[in-house]
Amino acid sequence: MERQTSYWTIRTLDQESEQAIQQAAALWKEQELIAFPTETVYGLGADATKEGAVAKIFEAKGRPADNPLIVHVADVNQIADYVKQVPPIAQKLMDAFMPGPITLILRSNDKLARNVTAGLDTIGIRVPDHPIARELLRAANLPIAAPSANTSGKPSPTSAIHVYHDLYGKIAGIVDGGLTGVGVESTVVDCTGNIPVILRPGGITQEEIEKITGVLTIGSTMEKQVEKPKAPGMKYNHYEPDVPLWLVEGDEAFFQTEINRLSKEGLKVGVMASEELLAKLHVANPKSCGSLEDLTTIAAHLYDTLRSFKAEEIDIILSETFPKEGIGQAVMNRLEKAASATTKSSC
Ligand code: TXA
Ligand code: MG
Repeated sequence: MERQTSYWTIRTLDQESEQAIQQAAALWKEQELIAFPTETVYGLGADATKEGAVAKIFEAKGRPADNPLIVHVADVNQIADYVKQVPPIAQKLMDAFMPGPITLILRSNDKLARNVTAGLDTIGIRVPDHPIARELLRAANLPIAAPSANTSGKPSPTSAIHVYHDLYGKIAGIVDGGLTGVGVESTVVDCTGNIPVILRPGGITQEEIEKITGVLTIGSTMEKQVEKPKAPGMKYNHYEPDVPLWLVEGDEAFFQTEINRLSKEGLKVGVMASEELLAKLHVANPKSCGSLEDLTTIAAHLYDTLRSFKAEEIDIILSETFPKEGIGQAVMNRLEKAASATTKSSC
């Protein structure tokens, strides 16, 4: 059944927006769901201390109950309230990257609702670096459990319009803070062992983390097929656009051959690529997702571009594959999960 969803638009934090912040935070205290902007993607938040409130997140998103949620707090010093201890390596990462697009997995002290962590003895916790998110968290004065604010399995929302599309009528409110910045989710780093492990690449790059930690392991959960992933969310279908997506591995001549071949089969082909590659292709439905000169632009536009093909009734999206360096690692991790196939040049 449809419910009423409040919608607040905030572009600058001032007296007027303060009212919206207070209203949204009050709804969190009443165990309602509020979607809000972070520097990575929009989150769908609920009071992490209340099982009933957290259960609504799983219901609204259609999220499997064994996939734990990240807890968001306003300030780094609040992390200690919800974990058994902060190991020295975690402290280093906190000092270097928080607030910012990183989530640390630490041993939980079981103060939060059990369904937040899906029964695990660890907790994922992060301090978002977004003025509206932090203002909301401060106003509520609560730890807020928040997955990305999309229907489970779909690309994460980088604008309030995406959230509206997926969740309007299912949640109590949406705080529209404009476009998010980073565009891919936070890097999830497991700090419960001797060596930190990246369970999900994201806004803070492996290279940046290695500079702080020296050694680092890349979790097997980053692979598509694993039997027992450590970040349980990584085993589900993810980021799938409504239109089938194929990754194209090869040079521009091969890309063009694939466009022509599929078009001849009668398919309306959409292409997602860098402006550099698009300049070399002949295609009816091109979408630039940024520049190879700066992979952060690709990350920032990735999900919006993936979502945009549906409105144009495209039958199949062909996407460029990007270098797996810096934030390109997170971009390719998401694209590989979103794609139904990869087409490769045989030469
Ligand atoms: O940037 C982000 O991280 C966004 C914004 C809203 O903060 N949130 C986000 O949440 O991406 P979600 O639920 O879409 O992804 C959380 C990931 C999942 O893969 C989940 O399995 C993993 O983090 N995770 C959460 N708690 C965990 C835990 N205790 N141990 C291992 N993995 C955990
Ligand atoms: Mg998500």
